[in-house]
Amino acid sequence: MIDGHFIVLEGIDGSGTTTQSAILADRLRDQGLPAHTTREPSDGPIGVLIRQILTGRVVTPSQHGARPPTWATMATLFAADRLDHLEAEIHPNLHDGVTVICDRYDHSSVAYQTVSAGGSEEVSSWVLTLNRHARRPDLTLVLDVDPEVAATRRGMRSGGPELYEVSEMQVELAKFYRKIDELFPNDRIAHIDADKDVDGVAEAVWAEVVRLRGESA
Ligand code: TYD
Repeated sequence: MIDGHFIVLEGIDGSGTTTQSAILADRLRDQGLPAHTTREPSDGPIGVLIRQILTGRVVTPSQHGARPPTWATMATLFAADRLDHLEAEIHPNLHDGVTVICDRYDHSSVAYQTVSAGGSEEVSSWVLTLNRHARRPDLTLVLDVDPEVAATRRGMRSGGPELYEVSEMQVELAKFYRKIDELFPNDRIAHIDADKDVDGVAEAVWAEVVRLRGESA
């Protein structure tokens, strides 16, 4: 059996990765192609712990009171979750010939953990090393969005802001994502203008997936 395609959607919070993952999977299924949507943090045990940290339900005690774990702890948790996710969910689906569409992957680790650590290249390089054994996607779609547009979208969601949903950080992340290709020179990365409406973005995403499928046919 030929492995399915591994497709990743990336972008800042509110860029539309979850919505676009679901639309893409539906379009593939409409064509009779099996597709599986998944996300990181994953729904496995480490991913569940990470989500509890992101929502403030798990904290680290310190002399100055409870605080979130440091960026380095987060980077190692995200990397461990990723390898577990690959083993338990991504690889089995790909090996069954299913296209796997993953909402966030190691580009998020490099972007978020580097920016939350102050933006140094040394941090990016360490996070890349931590994720060295993570299978490369066949295609990564980066949804580039104006941080203000994304903030408005986040404001319409229920629940309070999560750990990284701070406007200043999201502005830095948007800049980081625009040049993220430099850190993944061997990956196939396509940037999508995600300021457009949902249908417009979905069309641009679909065009990239059709190109990938055409090349590997
Ligand atoms: P998100 O994908 O927005 O999920 P939800 O829809 O449940 O809010 O939240 C995940 C957050 O975790 C997001 O702010 C990005 C961050 N993140 C990292 O910092 N590093 C990573 O490696 C990953 C996968 C996510």
